[in-house]
Amino acid sequence: MWALGLLSLAVLGDVACGKPVYTGDKVQSRTPYAVKDSYDVPAKWTREGPAPEDHHITLSIGLKQSRFGDLEKQLMEVSDPDHPRYGQHLTPEEVSKYIRPTEEASDDVHEWLSDNGVDLDTLSHTQAGDWITVRLPVKQVEQLLDTEYSVYKHDEDGTRMVRAPEWSLPRHLHGHVDAIQPTNSFSRPSKLSKPNMKRSSTLKPVSKAEGALRVPLGTPGVQHPTVSQVCNTSLVTPLCLRTLYGTVDYVPQVPGQNQIALCNYLNETNNRSDVSIFLQNFRPDAAGAGQQFTIDIIANGQNQQTPLSATQLGNGQDIEGNLDAETILGISYPTPLTAYNTGGSPDFIPDVNTPTDTNEPYLTWITFVEGQSSVPQVISTSYDDDEQTVPPSFAARVCQEFAKFGVQGHTLLFASGDSGVGPTGGCTSNNGTNATAFIPEFPSTCPYITSVGATKNFAPEVAAFDSSNNFASGGGFSNYFARPYYQNTTVPQYIASLNGEYAGLFNASGRGYPDISAQGQRFAVVYDGEVISVDGTSAATPAASAVLSLVNDALIAAGKSPLGFFNPLLYKTAYAGFNDITSGSAIGCGTNGFAAKAGWDPVTGFGTPNFPKILSILGVPTNSSSTT
Ligand SMILES: *[C@@H]1O[C@H](CO)[C@@H](O)[C@H](O)[C@H]1NC(C)=O
Ligand SMILES: *[C@@H]1O[C@H](CO)[C@@H](O)[C@H](O)[C@H]1NC(C)=O
Ligand SMILES: *[C@@H]1O[C@H](CO)[C@@H](O)[C@H](O)[C@H]1NC(C)=O
Ligand SMILES: *[C@@H]1O[C@H](CO)[C@@H](O)[C@H](O)[C@H]1NC(C)=O
Ligand SMILES: *[C@@H]1O[C@H](CO)[C@@H](O)[C@H](O)[C@H]1NC(C)=O
Ligand SMILES: *[C@@H]1O[C@H](CO)[C@@H](O)[C@H](O)[C@H]1NC(C)=O
Ligand SMILES: *[C@@H]1O[C@H](CO)[C@@H](O)[C@H](O)[C@H]1NC(C)=O
Ligand SMILES: *[C@@H]1O[C@H](CO)[C@@H](O)[C@H](O)[C@H]1NC(C)=O
Repeated sequence: MWALGLLSLAVLGDVACGKPVYTGDKVQSRTPYAVKDSYDVPAKWTREGPAPEDHHITLSIGLKQSRFGDLEKQLMEVSDPDHPRYGQHLTPEEVSKYIRPTEEASDDVHEWLSDNGVDLDTLSHTQAGDWITVRLPVKQVEQLLDTEYSVYKHDEDGTRMVRAPEWSLPRHLHGHVDAIQPTNSFSRPSKLSKPNMKRSSTLKPVSKAEGALRVPLGTPGVQHPTVSQVCNTSLVTPLCLRTLYGTVDYVPQVPGQNQIALCNYLNETNNRSDVSIFLQNFRPDAAGAGQQFTIDIIANGQNQQTPLSATQLGNGQDIEGNLDAETILGISYPTPLTAYNTGGSPDFIPDVNTPTDTNEPYLTWITFVEGQSSVPQVISTSYDDDEQTVPPSFAARVCQEFAKFGVQGHTLLFASGDSGVGPTGGCTSNNGTNATAFIPEFPSTCPYITSVGATKNFAPEVAAFDSSNNFASGGGFSNYFARPYYQNTTVPQYIASLNGEYAGLFNASGRGYPDISAQGQRFAVVYDGEVISVDGTSAATPAASAVLSLVNDALIAAGKSPLGFFNPLLYKTAYAGFNDITSGSAIGCGTNGFAAKAGWDPVTGFGTPNFPKILSILGVPTNSSSTT
């Protein structure tokens, strides 16, 4: 089947002038087209009509990574503490060797683009050449992919996207291309912070201008306060977290060599003034860091440092960003922090008739970071989306991209979601049956990353749940990614312990998540100059990331490799350095959800980090001031 048709001059007018870019001729191809990928439009998205003629699409073409299987083997070897190559992370050049597409794949794809009027000078390529990006008018993309793009509108929030649920390629390219987006992915990563907008009465700021909050930093005169002296469930502070997880006396030894990063999407940024006020009050020795951390702007990402408008304040813009930066600096200071603010497409101008230009944000970020000479060892991301909004082929490819980070010694942590096993009222399968099912969250379901759930309370910690906003630590099992080998004893044990409870609602052969957890309820956040409290695996993820970053500091100082992809080590030995959480559950989908139990569980993973214990398992000295 050919998609033919002549283009109107109006469309041509938008393309770079003077270049023989798009002739409007018939689609050229050596072989006939056949459907390459097809995925049902998720519930809640309704087709409104054809894509506007003047719409442009920034197309990302993922060429098959020639030796991904070998790369995966490398990943498992360098991450397995019993393997002789443990910790021998690969360089970007070595990674390129495994993922560079074959010459044939690369040539055939370029030939196809060129034959169809795409000026090859307008393409951009990743270093390994495994992604090609090009901005084209929608009509041209429709011809290239023999499809039709439509505008889809979200029934609840009115967001619009231009998507094509089914797309095709000439047959000879099927084996060369893994994924092309935007086509059929409806993923929209969302922030995982749930503000409790109540301003804290006892901790009310004296005044914004003074920038001073009166916050108890501990018991005066007590040098090594206990958890009960510094922790209060109504407001979780850095001193509480540092005391609870045992980092409070640790002095980072190699800041600079060791680094940490967080990712901002959806216009979030980290307001330097708020972060500074937070640190002045909750971590005074780190106060200067609020003005000093690095903010990298990617694809026109936002970095608004001027006062937020009433609408932005109403939307809670920057609560997520502030939470992430404040939590990380509050724990891992003076380890340098980088914030990656990733935006959408460069020249998108929204208007009432134009759909939101939703590029795939993780891809935009990955493509940028891969070109960087220095990438922090730990990267915290507090965003996720329902796995079933991402087509399996694309989820698989994005997950492969994350594997590249692990094999180079980076630890990627993602929040496990804020709705337990799924949002009550939204637990419907998208597979054509409308069956009731638990709803797993991506990227947490990707087996190459570490997923973080949330806890609350202190003695003992339990799985997080807040009845005031229905926040519950996310957890479950993937429908896309099979159980990875490192889970092959732990996870079946948990499933067996269910005795058939929830059978049919979750995929017992899938990758279980989260892997670990950390406090995630009623975090102190300075926002708009005041203290508020915030729930979320969004709080747990930067907290866990900061603790693991300090583990890296100790490892690097001792001349060892950083953690890199953590799960194989975690499931083999390091789990013993985590505080096991045994009560509470992943409340959601109108059920109590999976319960926390002794050992691993799909609501808190192996539990929360015990820093000194992790270091002792890894055989590294803490070099802390309190070492006796
Ligand atoms: C925790 O904080 C709340 C609110 O500030 C206070 O009323 C309560 O007494 C505190 N609890 C403890 C154990 O300090
Ligand atoms: C501990 O850290 C301090 C300061 O960072 C350093 O001077 C000292 O050599 C370290 N000691 C050991 C045993 O590594
Ligand atoms: C981001 O900011 C742009 C421009 O200020 C705005 O049009 C868009 O709606 C914002 N997106 C989100 C997700 O807030
Ligand atoms: C941060 O937020 C405050 C309070 O809304 C605002 O006054 C300020 O302009 C923002 N940016 C900076 C850099 O302080
Ligand atoms: C599933 O639900 C959608 C939306 O309510 C409906 O249009 C569709 O017919 C349902 N499908 C089945 C198989 O029940
Ligand atoms: C659809 O999803 C439900 C719930 O996960 C599952 O039980 C069922 O087997 C699936 N059906 C098909 C055809 O995939
Ligand atoms: C369950 O997971 C397996 C392994 O990833 C997958 O092959 C299968 O399709 C999944 N089943 C459903 C109903 O999604
Ligand atoms: C789990 O995987 C490990 C590593 O591949 C292997 O040694 C072990 O035998 C496996 N265990 C089971 C129960 O399959």
